[in-house]
Amino acid sequence: MALVHIIDQNRTLTDAHEITAYLASCGIDYERWTPSHEVAVDAPAEEILSAYAKEIEQLKSHGGYVTADVIDVKPETPGLDDMLAKFKREHWHDEDEVRFIIAGHGLFHIHPKDGPVVAIEVGPGDLIRVPRGTWHWFNLCADRRIRAIRLFQDMAGWTPLYTESGVDASYQPLCFGPVTSPEVPIARL
Ligand SMILES: [Fe+2]
Repeated sequence: MALVHIIDQNRTLTDAHEITAYLASCGIDYERWTPSHEVAVDAPAEEILSAYAKEIEQLKSHGGYVTADVIDVKPETPGLDDMLAKFKREHWHDEDEVRFIIAGHGLFHIHPKDGPVVAIEVGPGDLIRVPRGTWHWFNLCADRRIRAIRLFQDMAGWTPLYTESGVDASYQPLCFGPVTSPEVPIARL
């Protein structure tokens, strides 16, 4: 279950219906998916995609997505810090950012054009769709781990275009939920 924090209002949402409704008001789709059959979080990508085939096909037909893959990021992933540096500054894409989390955690900050910045901590079972053009940035949590299904309309569109607003610097990349990181009890990137 995601956790949603509206930082400037010091307000946290934990109820699924409240989260879905609030994010919808910001243009963000949020869903919970359950697999059609049991599948290990470290199963091969094909098995993961097969377990969620129904949901993936539904999204493809609604959103015009043509491909789905599985991204696997671990603390030991080569070049991880360089990769993260690209996405921790406020940016947008000419492509929807669609992620279904299999393992690990991530922290999206969404900056609606007419509303306060909202932080969304996603974990296993969470689907988030950030429409093209939405200002946002992304951090990992303390576990520095995320395995996720991604859907694409056109992979070429998924390049970060920076706002250079500096707004991201005003918000700490703090995850609020429990994270299984023995050496860092409070989730922090
Ligand atoms: Fe992005």
